[in-house]
Amino acid sequence: MTIHVEIEPKILYFGSSIVLISTMNVDGTPNLAPMSSAWWLNRSCMLGLSSKSQTALNMIREGECVLNLPSIDLISAIESLTLVTGRNPVPESKAARGYQFEPDKFGKSKLTPLPSRDVKAPRVQECPVHLEAKLIKVHPFEEPSSLVALEVHIEKIHVDQELTMKDHPNYINPSKWNPMIMNFCEYFGLSEQLSTSRLSAVFGPDVTK
Ligand SMILES: Cc1cc2nc3c(=O)[nH]c(=O)nc-3n(C[C@H](O)[C@H](O)[C@H](O)COP(=O)(O)O)c2cc1C
Repeated sequence: MTIHVEIEPKILYFGSSIVLISTMNVDGTPNLAPMSSAWWLNRSCMLGLSSKSQTALNMIREGECVLNLPSIDLISAIESLTLVTGRNPVPESKAARGYQFEPDKFGKSKLTPLPSRDVKAPRVQECPVHLEAKLIKVHPFEEPSSLVALEVHIEKIHVDQELTMKDHPNYINPSKWNPMIMNFCEYFGLSEQLSTSRLSAVFGPDVTK
């Protein structure tokens, strides 16, 4: 029998995929920031962010962003964007945790900007998935929290062609897509496929065609 104990962890990162958000700064340069509090519903995504982050400020001002999804081979790039912010001066609470200002996130991470189609922020060439998105609504968390949930609508989807199913070009082959998962403060990939969900009858490709 499982014995449950009461605990008080600092964070509740129970494992979700990492999103690298690109946005535009006021001065016309791009910002990049990793985050993992994201969930998806139809063509929408809800992004949990600190309203003090440069990313949230840029998204609220510009009304758009690109959600770049890194694969597990980009861990060192994500690490290089950890504990840095595009905000200058660095907010006090972040400076106390060791964050530093970094104006050139693409240079720091050695990632390559690629022009987007519908939004000003660039895509990240090295990420296999790019989702150009428009901000729909800002949902503030209960005060005094400075967290916000930013609801975005995905306007354009670009994927590495190697990820699509051969006979179904509008479907991503899940056995080829290897998302980077933040599991507490450790990076994970996915384990092997275990079985097929009955939802594949609704959302999967029509295999009779
Ligand atoms: C793997 C990873 C996941 C993160 N997840 C989140 C998150 O879900 N929400 C958030 O506000 N910050 C998250 N952060 C912290 C942001 O990256 C950090 O606040 C950063 O300074 C934001 O950069 P910016 O101020 O230039 O936007 C995460 C960082 C890493 C490395």
